[in-house]
Amino acid sequence: MLLDLCPSPALFPYYRKENDTVIVVDVFRASATMCAMLHNGASAIITVASIEKARQYKSAGFLVGAERKTRKCDFADFGNSPFDYKREIVAGKEVVFTTTNGTMALEMAQDSKQLFIGTFSNIDALADKCLESSERIVVLCAGWNNRINIEDILFGGAFAERLSENGAVTAGSDAVRIARALWQQAKDNPLAYLQQSDHYQRLIDNGVEGDAAYCLQQNTVSVVPCYNKQDKKLRAAK
Ligand code: MLT
Repeated sequence: MLLDLCPSPALFPYYRKENDTVIVVDVFRASATMCAMLHNGASAIITVASIEKARQYKSAGFLVGAERKTRKCDFADFGNSPFDYKREIVAGKEVVFTTTNGTMALEMAQDSKQLFIGTFSNIDALADKCLESSERIVVLCAGWNNRINIEDILFGGAFAERLSENGAVTAGSDAVRIARALWQQAKDNPLAYLQQSDHYQRLIDNGVEGDAAYCLQQNTVSVVPCYNKQDKKLRAAK
């Protein structure tokens, strides 16, 4: 199995190949939030890139989660906190979702052969899924406005380690080697390691640092959000 890691969406054209399995990773916070939605019974997630599109869905009566610059958008039902999407509200419903970076990265990769959402919340379920069917996997880090986020890279390192622990030979790249080296430094206490990071500071500035601790917990869910190219919706992979 080949594993590669694209550290920023801006570099994706140089990392993507045909027949790739792409894993979109936005550790803080979109990936964990999308996992929480499906874990809490949402029937599907409709991701949109623009606020305008999200507003149209809202006027059409959909439940909408919308965030920009880590803040909930005023017209939306929810922001980008995994705690916003409670089972009693989202179970059985389709949720429309737009964020600053996570849903943009998803939009870029939507014509991939296979497209999953990954993060620490579902790392084991994701590894099992990838071990089932993937020859070549690219971890696409959402970053922040095309800038590198260290937490997304750390996930890439943890995931590479998880795959090799499961006996998968992960012939990687320098990006994967960097991610694995970083993960060795951070794995004992990722939250402490990330406290100086750009996005953690942004979450603090907006009073949502509590989400960060949750987003770094491993295997809080067993769902793997999987993109369906026909109807452009994310559902829990079978
Ligand atoms: C994003 O999609 O950029 C992030 O998840 C933003 C956030 O943490 O709200």
